[in-house]
Amino acid sequence: MAIAKKAHNIAQLRALARRRLPRAIWEFMERGTEDDLLIGRNVSALQSLHLTPRTLRDVSARSAETVLFGRRQPLPLVIAPTGIADLMWHRGERAIASAAAAAGIPFTQTTSSTTSFADIAKVARAGHWMQMYLWERRELSWQVVEAAGKHGADVLVLTVDTPVWPLREFNRRAGMSNPVRPNTRLVSDFLRRPGWLASVMGRYMLEGGLPQFANYPAEVGGRITGKVARVTNSASVDWKDVDELRRRWPGKLVVKGLLHPDDARRAVERGVDGIAVSNHGGRNFDSSPPAIDALPAIVDAVGGRATVLFDSGVRRGADVIKAIALGADAVMIGRATLYGCAAAGQAGAAHALALLANEIDVAMAMLGITRLDELDRSFLGSGRSAMQPSAVFEGT
Ligand SMILES: Cc1cc2nc3c(=O)[nH]c(=O)nc-3n(C[C@H](O)[C@H](O)[C@H](O)COP(=O)(O)O)c2cc1C
Repeated sequence: MAIAKKAHNIAQLRALARRRLPRAIWEFMERGTEDDLLIGRNVSALQSLHLTPRTLRDVSARSAETVLFGRRQPLPLVIAPTGIADLMWHRGERAIASAAAAAGIPFTQTTSSTTSFADIAKVARAGHWMQMYLWERRELSWQVVEAAGKHGADVLVLTVDTPVWPLREFNRRAGMSNPVRPNTRLVSDFLRRPGWLASVMGRYMLEGGLPQFANYPAEVGGRITGKVARVTNSASVDWKDVDELRRRWPGKLVVKGLLHPDDARRAVERGVDGIAVSNHGGRNFDSSPPAIDALPAIVDAVGGRATVLFDSGVRRGADVIKAIALGADAVMIGRATLYGCAAAGQAGAAHALALLANEIDVAMAMLGITRLDELDRSFLGSGRSAMQPSAVFEGT
């Protein structure tokens, strides 16, 4: 049965993904850190915001068109960088990048992507963004940045919220590690999902082996099962690195993972083009605030001097509308398209985007607007949604 008949919202895609994936892979995608509180908080903070409809306005011609870094796109969405899509579906990264292009939105490739820059460039026709973590040996990171630029990546996203590997205890319990180390728990887990095993692992084996980190410098190697000179995120990354990257990267530069308005101000002063307000989808530090709570103060601190992106917890088109009403220029989508991809490959990722697009459109009509630039904080009603920008960062 076609995926559109099986799933009518992102939650239903999520349920399908869960049924198809081995536990270790599912948990790696889905869960957060420590006590796993923040993922739920991200989602419920968005849900508890209210949007007050305006009525008796002609909303027969609506458009969610957005201009992002000079590029016109039909939706205010970007695919967030999310590793391991290739373990959700055979060639899952390409599947999501193709779905993004078909929807007219940019795709962000991760540092640890298992698809080459060239292969993503071929399909990411509506924008090819590249995400970077910086390694201790910066010269190796600069090599990756340079290669991304040569292959036409148009926006560089520096993720700054992961100075050390997070406390993902459940990953350890499920036998999942970074790098992946084959073990009996993983194998028995994989054997319980024969459909996934045959269609994903089986196909890779027939093609000669597991996907490799495709864009690491030769000196580093690419095996995801370890036994290479490992590169890990550097804990010494600081503002000097932002300056260095600004010098090296002539294109648009986004800093991802900011939650404090002072950090946003500093980033703008250093000449970044965009800020992604994000708590990494609740995957990094369980005590962080829900990202939506941090958004208004950052929008105010940026004051229109840079593009503001938002992610973490978006599961409905109305969530996208809420973020834009609070001042975001566009929203990055992480798990929603991963669920789609895990459920049905490119068709599933495309379906996730189609669901969100339709929900955005319906929300616009209900709010009495025909363009996204009509949104502002006056649409946010009572209760939580009346929160002031300073609610989270009193005294900053
Ligand atoms: C499986 C998975 C892998 C991710 N890998 C990365 C990554 O390599 N780099 C990065 O900056 N963010 C990464 N993220 C975080 C996303 O870019 C994004 O911030 C987050 O998923 C947004 O929250 P949402 O999943 O609730 O939409 C990852 C997220 C997931 C779910």
